[in-house]
Amino acid sequence: MFAINGLIFRILATITFAVLLVACEKTPHTASVQSPKTAVELGELIFHDASLSASGKQSCASCHSPDHAHAQPNALSVQLGGINFDQPGTRAVPSLRYLSKTPAFSFNDEGTPSGGFNHDGSAETLAAQAERPLLAANEMANGTRERVVEKLRLSASASAFRKIYGEQSLNDVDTAFANLGDALEQYQLQAVEFHPFDSKYDLYLAGKAQLTPSEMRGFKLFNEEKRANCAACHPSERAADGSSPLFTDFTYDALGIPRNDSIAANADKTRFDLGLCNSGRKGQAAMPSECGKFKVPTLRNVATRQVFFHNGQIKSLRDAVAFYVSRDTHPQEWYPVVSGKVQKFNDQPKVHRKNINIHEAPYDRKLGQQPALSEQEIDDLVSFLHTLTDSDLTAHKTR
Ligand code: HEC
Ligand code: HEC
Repeated sequence: MFAINGLIFRILATITFAVLLVACEKTPHTASVQSPKTAVELGELIFHDASLSASGKQSCASCHSPDHAHAQPNALSVQLGGINFDQPGTRAVPSLRYLSKTPAFSFNDEGTPSGGFNHDGSAETLAAQAERPLLAANEMANGTRERVVEKLRLSASASAFRKIYGEQSLNDVDTAFANLGDALEQYQLQAVEFHPFDSKYDLYLAGKAQLTPSEMRGFKLFNEEKRANCAACHPSERAADGSSPLFTDFTYDALGIPRNDSIAANADKTRFDLGLCNSGRKGQAAMPSECGKFKVPTLRNVATRQVFFHNGQIKSLRDAVAFYVSRDTHPQEWYPVVSGKVQKFNDQPKVHRKNINIHEAPYDRKLGQQPALSEQEIDDLVSFLHTLTDSDLTAHKTR
């Protein structure tokens, strides 16, 4: 009897173990729906559909990996795309999480630019944003809208398209493209995976978790105007309507990030990424006062990133924070030194360097002064930033 019990126990244990193994085995992230019934589900299928690229191997999810907060899954400064995967991009891939409240691009009464999509605000809406990656030679590389729509008609989502947007929905290129943009937008706006609001910090705000002493010190510094002052641009408090903080105020600023020589386009020494002033937005005149400014990104999930800022030059979260603190006191740590002279702000042409923010804490220091924060305080800020990681990603923390 005892032996039989033992045998049964062992069989059961083996089965349980096998089931657990299968459950834990990481399956590649693909769309969870195969026959979409709503625009959101259709958007998800399109987002994961590599057949919509010229190479047949790249989808939105290749660069915006759900396992990496819908941002790039690797430590490359810029991603490769194109029919043979050999055409490099020029900017780091932003996370697509927490974008649903981003307002359309505008200037407020004081002339402050805010809202819009991409690092330079060049896209008005999430629907409009989708066109560039689908067409651009260094991304999905279809070249024309026509080619995208031809692929859509042959894709797994064609019949769902006709059910959801009507029988005629793929007939003419403009209508098909508008529907495609709508489905991608609805997916990003509505699917919970883009805004779970379940980080440790969210639990803390809800009174369901406690911050460690280091996280708490970092949190206080983050908000302290005269010290780290991060919340000035990356708000950490609930909004007036009680909604959860997004850690961006949707504005733009010029931080003077060092030039990234690993970006192929930068081999041309006269090429500068001017950001907002050169975004190419329709009807936008040249705006020299906005040159060198880039959008304030959310800091939610920033600890899952491997490259930072618009050009991916900085490769660790600690360095990203330390850059703010010692850019002006120890510029030689960040910029190349040529014949004994530090090439400060070397990624902007001289005429635009006056736009770079040197007035706000913590980057309001001068050469020879003490950095605004100590090494320990930088570590504390980094600890706090780790509390902004969504619960599905906490196991994937990179550093
Ligand atoms: C080859 C990599 C790549 C692919 C493929 C790609 N993207 Fe992107 N995505 C980027 C990069 C790089 C940026 C930043 C572009 C910029 O600032 O000019 C970006 C920006 C965005 C943004 C703006 C985010 C923000 O913070 O404002 C959205 C939205 C977006 N992509 C959606 C998509 C969708 C939808 C697809 C598929 C149709 C897609 N992307 C395919 C690399 C990619
Ligand atoms: C005056 C506005 C402002 C303040 C203050 C500010 N930031 Fe930022 N932050 C920005 C802008 C703008 C960017 C994007 C710059 C770029 O890409 O060139 C950015 C980007 C970042 C990034 C990179 C995120 C990514 O996705 O690559 C991190 C990390 C960051 N900030 C942390 C902080 C911390 C920590 C503080 C406080 C010490 C702080 N910021 C204070 C405006 C600000």
